[in-house]
Amino acid sequence: PQPLRVGIAGLGTVGAAVLDILARRDNPLADRAGRQIRVTAVSARDRTRDRGHDLTRYAWFDDPVALASSPEIDCLVELMGGSDGPAKATVEAALDAGKHVVTANKALLAKHGLALAAKAEAAGRALAFEASAAGGIPVVKTLREALAGNGVTRLYGILNGTCNYILSRMEQEGSSFADCLAAAQKLGYAEADPTFDIEGYDTAHKLAILTSLAFGVEIDAEAIYVEGISSITPVDLAMAEELGFRIKLLGVAERVGDSGIEQRVHPTMVPKTSAVAQVMGVTNAVTIDADAVGELTLIGPGAGGKATASAVVSDIADVAAGTVGMPFGRPAARLETAERAPMQRHQ
Ligand code: NDP
Ligand code: HSE
Repeated sequence: PQPLRVGIAGLGTVGAAVLDILARRDNPLADRAGRQIRVTAVSARDRTRDRGHDLTRYAWFDDPVALASSPEIDCLVELMGGSDGPAKATVEAALDAGKHVVTANKALLAKHGLALAAKAEAAGRALAFEASAAGGIPVVKTLREALAGNGVTRLYGILNGTCNYILSRMEQEGSSFADCLAAAQKLGYAEADPTFDIEGYDTAHKLAILTSLAFGVEIDAEAIYVEGISSITPVDLAMAEELGFRIKLLGVAERVGDSGIEQRVHPTMVPKTSAVAQVMGVTNAVTIDADAVGELTLIGPGAGGKATASAVVSDIADVAAGTVGMPFGRPAARLETAERAPMQRHQ
């Protein structure tokens, strides 16, 4: 079989880490996918920046939209970020040109996921986004594939590595919010604009995607009540501790009645003895209550180049093997419109 020819748009924290994995000599992917996977073309803003790779091995595109429709690729991997602008134009151009698409871009999917899924389905091409929620944790495939026979009643968890890293370090070391955020940025955890992390919007984007997968409903990010962690102080954390609690930024989605879904993101006091309270640093955790399997929790690295690249590469392997199903596990047109349930009082 012909190799899968991959074009990568965006060679930052995640893009460079994807190249690291795909360039490894001992890569077992070809065996798993049944054919070679070859990066043939790349795009970023600054051609001169050192990214730890010999980029002369690949065709270079200043314009990611031109890369997306280039005859040199079969699969476009979008790792630039942003809900509109070049990312959206690039993904649309790729699908229009009959390419498969892999993306880690939750902001894009939370806003345009339904339309992009419909476009991919109409074109008979893959739109794969394992890395868009909870970094290295395979929660998208878990919901879409492993839990396909379940009705989900609730999903909640820590979905932003930057926030959990900040809260953990503030609590454990008494460091300032600003210092912890700067460290998260240096480690490649934060979004290009970290407001998305600390104000809860990144968690909301991920929650919107997971809600759609879990409940079979259209993405509705606008329905989410969102509150971030920017006003949490070391005093708040110390007082919570004294009372036997930790503060975590949680995303929660649950069924209310027959057709309602409540979605919310906010800092939450969780008992120090609870499982979610033990999740520290950049680690994320997602708990799913489902009728057949019961309750299950996935825990793992929620951000960072290497962990996220792990998820991106799993999607590329699925594309190469031809095993990517419908983006949201059912036709986009058959996703239900959920009633927006108002915030309830929670004990
Ligand atoms: P970075 O900011 O590190 O990298 C972005 C890359 O996109 C850079 O290489 C940049 O080029 C390139 N780029 C931006 N705009 C353009 C453009 N107009 N044309 C061509 N190239 C462009 O981001 P990350 O790698 O951290 O994140 C990438 C995506 O992955 C985002 O959607 C993010 O939300 C998502 N993600 C990130 C995770 C993480 O832990 N970092 C985890 C999970 C998802 P240049 O280098 O020249 O500036
Ligand atoms: N900025 C995000 C986070 C990256 O900190 O969780 C992973 O999606």
